[in-house]
Amino acid sequence: MSARPLLRMSDAANGLLAAAGLVAVAALTASSLGAGVRLAIEGLLAGIWAVYLLQLSDTLIAFWARDGRASVTEAVIDLLAVVVPLAGLLFAGTRDQSLYCGVWLLKPLRHSTFFRLLGRVVARAAPNLVGVTSLFGIVLFGASLIAYLIERDVQPDKFGSIPQAMWWAVVTLSTTGYGDEIPMTFAGRVLAGLVMMSGIGIFALWAGILATGFFEEVRRQDFVRNWQLVAAVPLFQRLGSAAFVEIVRALRPRVVPSGAIICRKGEAGDQMFFIVEGRVTIATPSPTPVELGPGSFFGEMALISGEPRSATVTAETEVSLLSLYSEDFQMLSSSNPEIAEVIRKTAETRRGRTPEA
Ligand code: CMP
Repeated sequence: MSARPLLRMSDAANGLLAAAGLVAVAALTASSLGAGVRLAIEGLLAGIWAVYLLQLSDTLIAFWARDGRASVTEAVIDLLAVVVPLAGLLFAGTRDQSLYCGVWLLKPLRHSTFFRLLGRVVARAAPNLVGVTSLFGIVLFGASLIAYLIERDVQPDKFGSIPQAMWWAVVTLSTTGYGDEIPMTFAGRVLAGLVMMSGIGIFALWAGILATGFFEEVRRQDFVRNWQLVAAVPLFQRLGSAAFVEIVRALRPRVVPSGAIICRKGEAGDQMFFIVEGRVTIATPSPTPVELGPGSFFGEMALISGEPRSATVTAETEVSLLSLYSEDFQMLSSSNPEIAEVIRKTAETRRGRTPEA
């Protein structure tokens, strides 16, 4: 049997399989399970392990072949997913054997673009994250020290040392508030209030740094992808760097499946399209439809004249497009009149070629 399809198993399928395995591991820790159910769940774990074994074999083949289908991370995760449960089976007691399958928690990471993105965000935001973490440490230690001074004589069993007071400080700073250690003195309660408010601020800072990092990373990725797409359109190759950056920001990429109608004759049109890849057909009233390919544009006539679309445009193949909305076309017209002129002239020529229906 070829293991190839297993390597290509989608991230979602991989995640589902790992989730099924982990639920099974969790279920096996319940002592109330009957022997039959336990056997069935263990069978499920064995089945998942067998799938992972096949996946590992294919990952290793791809890895050695260096055909770019398997990375070191995937190879290591796939190896651990097989070896660790096997080690559990061979060396752990019956009670704990299945717990080793907990290593399958790593499986969703093997190919995840999200975790790669998270890694980049954390790496870029590291100085700020370290700064906020230091602040957390300073507040934590300061609060523990003061709580120790205030409460040690009143509650020596709970605040009798700084490490003991630190537990209270962590619980309060994170605003978890288990309630197992509560300051009894007035000063202690004032301190608790201040620590809680500091905690909210510190966690908000962490969240803010990460959220900004995600936003900037996604925007950077979009910008790089758009840059490559825009660079593929000959019309924009004559733009200066500032205007090029402006147009990269303005154009929105879009992929249209083969056979889909991109714009319909008679509709209002507020955007024009540049073809990066693929072909479209324009159903003009003339007997032969016009076909446009990479580097061409369409939809400019309605955008310029404000009249309805002059023809229906259909994707002949899957098409990668860049859309330019009318307000951005105005911006392009004022910053780069020569490009706008090319587009206007093309619209006029096409209008002349398109007989009235
Ligand atoms: P618009 O009228 O906005 O929407 C349909 C588009 O098809 C139109 O803009 C042009 O971009 C394009 N189009 C119409 N007629 C022709 C033609 N004869 N040759 C090439 N493209 C055309």
